Formats: sequence, C-alpha cells, structure tokens
Amino acid sequence: MERLINKVAIITGAAQGMGESHARTFVAEGAKVILTDVSAEAGQKLADELGENAIFIKHDVTCSEQWAHVVAEAEKAFGHVNVLVNNAGILGPMVKTQELQEADYLKVCDINQHSVFYGMKAVIPSMIKAGIGSIVNISSIAGIVANYGFPSLAYVASKFAVRGMTKATAIEYGEKNIRVNSVHPGFIKTPMMVAATNEEGGDALAQIPLGRLAEPKEVSNLVLFLASEESSYITATEHSIDAGMTAQ
Ligand SMILES: NC(=O)c1ccc[n+]([C@@H]2O[C@H](COP(=O)([O-])OP(=O)(O)OC[C@H]3O[C@@H](n4cnc5c(N)ncnc54)[C@H](O)[C@@H]3O)[C@@H](O)[C@H]2O)c1
Repeated sequence: MERLINKVAIITGAAQGMGESHARTFVAEGAKVILTDVSAEAGQKLADELGENAIFIKHDVTCSEQWAHVVAEAEKAFGHVNVLVNNAGILGPMVKTQELQEADYLKVCDINQHSVFYGMKAVIPSMIKAGIGSIVNISSIAGIVANYGFPSLAYVASKFAVRGMTKATAIEYGEKNIRVNSVHPGFIKTPMMVAATNEEGGDALAQIPLGRLAEPKEVSNLVLFLASEESSYITATEHSIDAGMTAQ
C-alpha cells in the first residue's frame, strides 16, 4: 500500500500517542516524514526505527524560529513539503474557569492554537512551490462541543479556534491547491487520555455510544485519507472521529 507516494510530511508531536501512530502509518504508505517533538529521545528512537524515510527534529511548536528551521531541514532532506499534520497538543489543567491560572490558559493556547498559525505560515510557502498541499489540523471534540467530559476553558478555546483557523486558511489557499481540514477525535487511547482517565476510559465510557476508547491507528486512518489524494475535493471541513459522542 503506497497511498502517500511522493508526499513529504511534517508531523508535530510525533514522539508518542497519535502523532507516533500517524508517523508509522505515513511511512508505511510511502511518505517521507519529518517527525518533530519536544521529547527528543523518544522521537529520535522512533525515527531510527522507521528508517531512511523518517527524520526527527527537536522542535517546540510554540517557537516560530524553530518552525523555519524545521521547514528548511525538511526541504534539504526530502524536497518541498506537501503535507503538514499539526498534532502536538496538551490538555492543560482540568479546572473550572475561576481556578484556571492565566499562565496555564496562555500555555494551552500557545501549544494547541498559536502553533497551528506558526506551522501553517511556515509551511505554506513550501506547499506553494510544490504546487499542492494538505494541512491536517488536529482539534478535538472539544472544538465541536464544550461539554466533552472535562472542565477546561483553555482547551475548549484552543480547539474551537483551530477549527475556525482551518476554514479561514482553506478559503485563502484553495486557489494554490492547498487543502486544509480539521480532525476532531473523541477519546483515544494515548498517554494524554490515559493520564486523564485510565486505560479503559473511566467515567468517560458512559458517554461513548460505541462503548470503548479508540486505538490511535483508527485516527491515523482518517488523517491518512485527508493527507492523500483520495480526499482531493475535501477542504475547509471538520471531521469528527468520536464514536458518536457529539451526536447529541
Ligand atoms: N487522546 C485523545 O483522546 C485526544 C482527543 C482529542 C484530541 N486530541 C488531540 O490530539 C493530539 C495528540 O494527542 P495525544 O493524545 O496523542 O497526546 P500525547 O500527550 O500522547 O502526545 C502529544 C505529543 O505532543 C508533544 N508536545 C507537547 N507539547 C509540545 C510542544 N510545545 N512542541 C512540540 N511537541 C509538543 C508531546 O511531547 C507528545 O509527544 C493533541 O493535539 C490532542 O489535543 C487527543
């Protein structure tokens, strides 16, 4: 299966969880992948395991200078970038608004939201040179509904923003053959989710019509579709992958 042949992809937050799964899937489908993360040891280990079509770059997504470096290194190694998966994110404190510290609010918005702006701004020139591009912004069901299970004004704010930024950028760059879509996972079995609930989902299970958490690979299948030419007429859309959680 080589559904991503001729694709050069940057995936952020690729050292673990869904980002790791996306990186494994993309390489298996023929893409050349730049994995980035603040977690250097795990990221490098994964890139080594994935072989010559994967490189790791230590990268804090909140730093626009580092984004310029990542794009330059990607172009040097593999050519123009034509896929970007803005995946890195944090949950932040799950506390009510009165207890939420200003610094925590800003940190969540920096990592989850502002990074998406920095990433798209840095990568779009490379996509324009490539003549084609697909940007997949990882939001959340918390970018569709506010009552997704945990109190967190900052997380909801950042994930709603990503959904809007996706549409705005998609409209701007359609004429350049760059598609931009958002993905809205429900409860996925990753270190982030297990830390917030437990392996099986804890109290969250009762809210999930399919009655289980998802494996990261189930989300990778959607991200793969959006990155590939199979989704060539799909842009400016949000894609829930939540076992029905946002149906009501
Ligand atoms: N797990 C879920 O159920 C779930 C649901 C909805 C949305 N999401 C979103 O999916 C994405 C991936 O989540 P996950 O569950 O795999 O999380 P995770 O915590 O398992 O992995 C996130 C990765 O992002 C990296 N990261 C954190 N801050 C960073 C920074 N400043 N710069 C670069 N990398 C950074 C971490 O080191 C980690 O490797 C996130 O955007 C998250 O908000 C997750």
